Amino acid sequence: MISMTGVHAGYGGGDVLQGLDLEIDPGAVTCVVGPNGAGKSTVLRAISGQLAPRLGTIRYGGRDIDGRHPAELIKAGIVQVPQKHGLFPEMTVAENVLLGGYLRRRDRAYLQKRLAHLAERFPIIGERGAEPAGNLSGGQRRTVEFARALMLEPAMVLLDEPSLGLDPRSLGLVEQSVTGMRDSGVTVLIVEQNVRFGLGIAAHGVVMESGRVLRADAAQAILDDPEMGAFFLGGAP
Ligand SMILES: Nc1ncnc2c1ncn2[C@@H]1O[C@H](COP(=O)(O)OP(=O)(O)O)[C@@H](O)[C@H]1O
Ligand SMILES: [Mg+2]
Repeated sequence: MISMTGVHAGYGGGDVLQGLDLEIDPGAVTCVVGPNGAGKSTVLRAISGQLAPRLGTIRYGGRDIDGRHPAELIKAGIVQVPQKHGLFPEMTVAENVLLGGYLRRRDRAYLQKRLAHLAERFPIIGERGAEPAGNLSGGQRRTVEFARALMLEPAMVLLDEPSLGLDPRSLGLVEQSVTGMRDSGVTVLIVEQNVRFGLGIAAHGVVMESGRVLRADAAQAILDDPEMGAFFLGGAP
């Protein structure tokens, strides 16, 4: 689905990603974990086109996509849900979801059809659609962010720290949404600080450190490895 080879990328001075190699399987949930500052968010920005790699290649469905514009990648089916809260609190829930269809804003019939479909899949959108998004709880807002990402029927969704700041009940909602996306055929790439939560809902796990992949394995194998437990508890060796 996605294949990153020898990717170097950064923000000016040095490279954050230092020759990163990463394969993402289609139709599954993959979770990238690693210490703060390891470059997890940077991986997502490189894939979604917000940051062009300095070196290396990113291939998607057999095509080179590195350096492409984010809007082009959304059209190609890759959508990122950013880490910082992305809803407009004064706009309604439905208006926020519809923003995800901006690139097809002239196709009203299509957007209404998608909104109706998403309201069926995520009841909160049907029930609270006319309310300001600011009225919703953290977990509900996250659900709306996911629905917005799904407006244009992406093939792949990138989620940056979806568990951040959520209570245990909301984490359950996020898990349901993620497994629902996967079951509908969407490839999901998650970046998480909450290692147990992230690897717990993923099939594949990737451990990053200092801009490189330290290990790629079955998510459960990483969770079960005592050395990995020590790595996360003790920080980077
Ligand atoms: N917009 C930016 N400008 C400059 N440096 C950045 C920017 N975003 C991230 N960084 C730096 O890049 C490194 C990796 O960041 P990031 O990919 O956000 O890590 P992670 O998501 O794993 O915590 C950090 O040292 C961070 O300070
Ligand atoms: Mg991050």
